[in-house]
Amino acid sequence: MSTTTTTANANSQVLLDRIRTKKARVGVIGLGYVGLPLAVEFARQGFEVSGFDVDESKTGLINAGQSYIPDVPQVELCEVVKAGRLRGTSRMIELAGMDVIDICVPTPLRKTKDPDLSYVVKAVEAVAAVLKPGQLIILESTTYPGTTDEVVQPLLESRGLKADADFFLAFSPERIDPGNETYTIKTTPKIVGGLTEAIGRAPDGSVPALAVPPEQFAPSLRRWLTDAALRNELRRSAVLRRSTLTAWTETTRIIGEVLAGTTTKVGMPR
Ligand SMILES: NC(=O)c1ccc[n+]([C@@H]2O[C@H](COP(=O)([O-])OP(=O)(O)OC[C@H]3O[C@@H](n4cnc5c(N)ncnc54)[C@H](O)[C@@H]3O)[C@@H](O)[C@H]2O)c1
Repeated sequence: MSTTTTTANANSQVLLDRIRTKKARVGVIGLGYVGLPLAVEFARQGFEVSGFDVDESKTGLINAGQSYIPDVPQVELCEVVKAGRLRGTSRMIELAGMDVIDICVPTPLRKTKDPDLSYVVKAVEAVAAVLKPGQLIILESTTYPGTTDEVVQPLLESRGLKADADFFLAFSPERIDPGNETYTIKTTPKIVGGLTEAIGRAPDGSVPALAVPPEQFAPSLRRWLTDAALRNELRRSAVLRRSTLTAWTETTRIIGEVLAGTTTKVGMPR
């Protein structure tokens, strides 16, 4: 086993242990329609969560136990803040203390219909400035295929740490539908992609995971196969386009475990 693989396994084992025992500290960057429900849900599951936002009025409201997002019930937010499991901050330097960092910043469409990545770049630069071995970084913002490995990864690696060896990197675009009472943040199937160990050596850069709780797998698969828009979304996803059925990386394994403890993972054919 190479030194890189050994380091990656050791790092991922520590992280997995922290996640399983709920000792992992979770940071969510961008506390809007996507980030706040996610931060509250992580906190409700027992994690210690820090919510990062450049907008101090939002972090102030969170610390005062006040919800400003309709999908986040006041009582749920208040409960986790009072219990000390959720706090808001604008001090990006505190990202250094996180084990898992979820990036949920805006990606508004430009006139040319491609997403403005400036918010993502700013958030990733803040992470890169304090990046430590063993951290897991997840991009949740909606964006075009290739953003994770072509934009996010080089920024994170700019100070010498390597993805999938020193730190872990995944793309898991948020699919939340605000106001939808059937599919909530807990029940909407997620698509997760992590980098392979062979990155840089193989033409295929990423490996996919579709991770959903087992009881939702059959209905989810039926939905994926019959819903034309969803089918197109899957096809367009770089992560899935580059998929293989067999290879699973440490990042993907970690994410799978994070999602539900017992998740069903399925690779999608190219
Ligand atoms: N809202 C939805 O229904 C929805 C659904 C699926 C996916 N998404 C995607 O999720 C992403 C986030 O969307 P949203 O609706 O939550 O946006 P939002 O505008 O509601 O919230 C984004 C938050 O990020 C903060 N922010 C911006 N730059 C930051 C930085 N550098 N550091 C820290 N905080 C920063 C903003 O102050 C804001 O509070 C977008 O890519 C969006 O396309 C949104």
